[in-house]
Amino acid sequence: MSGLFITFEGIDGCGKSTQRDLLAEELERRGLDVLVTREPGGTAIGEDIRRILVSDASVHIAPTTELLLYVAARAQHVAELIKPALDADRIVVSDRYTDSTVAFQGYGRGLDLEMIAVLNKLATADLKPDLTVVFDLDPATARGRLGSRPIGGLLGAFDEQHSDFHKRMRQGYLKMARSEPSRIHVVDASGAIEETYSKVLALVLPMLEEVRRAKSEVRSQEEVRSSESEVRSQESEARKPSNP
Ligand SMILES: Nc1ncnc2c1ncn2[C@@H]1O[C@H](COP(=O)(O)OP(=O)(O)OP(=O)(O)O)[C@@H](O)[C@H]1O
Ligand SMILES: [Mg+2]
Repeated sequence: MSGLFITFEGIDGCGKSTQRDLLAEELERRGLDVLVTREPGGTAIGEDIRRILVSDASVHIAPTTELLLYVAARAQHVAELIKPALDADRIVVSDRYTDSTVAFQGYGRGLDLEMIAVLNKLATADLKPDLTVVFDLDPATARGRLGSRPIGGLLGAFDEQHSDFHKRMRQGYLKMARSEPSRIHVVDASGAIEETYSKVLALVLPMLEEVRRAKSEVRSQEEVRSSESEVRSQESEARKPSNP
């Protein structure tokens, strides 16, 4: 599998979707084959699950049910979209992935982190992003950016509880970044959209260059192999005894 897998993470309203769209436009402008997707969702089954998660009924959802629904949507997402896209050498940019479940259900809701790790592994066949950008923002600023939009499927009345929840999620993301520093990069998302975007590009552009270099190496190795096999077949042709 080659391709490049990038995920955007962070609390609600930190700017993930804004940055994802900017990056996708830039990659497409460069003629790259990009799959832009989101969780929960991305597939028909995933979008059905998303509808359950944001429905009024889900205000009373049991935490374990919620966890399993997110994981189920992810399993479909990986099998149907992400893995095939990476196998076809595409660049995948996903708005949320496994780390969201660790932050939301683990650090936010307090569910067992080891259990979440096992479920994430099951859902993804251990497929990890090449790069994860965590947009770090103070929950109050993020809330202000969202205005009157309900967050995380919950309504404004739950705001106070929500603020503590988001503080725990934010700390969770920072902890994850410390434990996987080569994959997870924290970007300060408190500045203007363009300012944050330039930090995203500074992380992504060197990776594109790496992918380009790896692909051209594979191509030249293939060319060497094919010219060697051509020489071998010409030699064996020449060694064949000619018919009397
Ligand atoms: N750097 C920024 N400064 C000010 N406003 C911003 C910035 N980035 C995004 N916004 C605005 O903040 C709001 C939330 O941004 P966005 O939808 O990208 O966040 P998100 O992380 O995807 O949120 P959610 O988790 O709820 O999907 C949008 O109205 C967006 O236009
Ligand atoms: Mg969003």
